[in-house]
Amino acid sequence: MAKISYIFTFILLQIYLVSGVKQFLIVDFNNNDNVTEWREQSDTLTKSGMSKAALVLLETGLSRRAVFFTLLNAQPNGGGFAGVETDMQLNLSNYNSIALRVRGQGKNKGYKFILKHKSGKNEDRLEYCHLFEVPFGDYTVVKLPLKQFKPYFKNKLVNQTEPLKLNEITSIGLRMYGSDPSSQKKQSGVSSLEMDWIIALG
Ligand SMILES: *[C@@H]1O[C@H](CO)[C@@H](O)[C@H](O)[C@H]1NC(C)=O
Ligand SMILES: *[C@@H]1O[C@H](CO)[C@@H](O)[C@H](O)[C@H]1NC(C)=O
Ligand SMILES: *[C@@H]1O[C@H](CO)[C@@H](O)[C@H](O)[C@H]1NC(C)=O
Repeated sequence: MAKISYIFTFILLQIYLVSGVKQFLIVDFNNNDNVTEWREQSDTLTKSGMSKAALVLLETGLSRRAVFFTLLNAQPNGGGFAGVETDMQLNLSNYNSIALRVRGQGKNKGYKFILKHKSGKNEDRLEYCHLFEVPFGDYTVVKLPLKQFKPYFKNKLVNQTEPLKLNEITSIGLRMYGSDPSSQKKQSGVSSLEMDWIIALG
């Protein structure tokens, strides 16, 4: 089963990737990677938060992947989020983008990919985010240029006093957001995101 799944992933990666493009498999739920290293990072960290996120493995006779479930109980003003993150030391200085193969269902399509880097103070509060939409329907590869990640502090866009240190990434995360300063979108409700892999592309 693992072998079939491995070949499957390999073929998918080959189909997607033009040969010659530098690639690095960051997370491979199809084969090796577990979800146990991921922890929840939702609005219940604050008193008024009411949202929930979970990352679980979905294994069938033919495939293995992760599912990111979110229950977003947003505040009337759109505040609220449900997410997961995992610590990971990454050097992405030779790469241009991050890509993930996903399929979305449920209420909402708008997600955020989050990178944090090694930083003296407020390390866990300063985050670099890229919003993305997952169309409902079949699996799709979402590509996020690293240059377009924007710095946030407490869900507010901040001026880039400290550019993202691609060579010292300390964590990656996924989030369903109620609202975002860069968008008019307001979201709430139950959604799921099935996920095969996350790769870095050169
Ligand atoms: C994933 O978890 C299973 C069960 O705990 C374990 O046997 C396996 O070695 C883990 N795989 C990795 C890559 O950590
Ligand atoms: C990151 O990768 C670049 C390019 O390969 C290399 O020059 C640099 O030394 C690496 N930095 C760290 C902190 O490993
Ligand atoms: C960011 O910088 C711009 C231009 O320097 C300034 O107009 C804006 O008010 C700043 N925003 C914040 C949140 O500090």
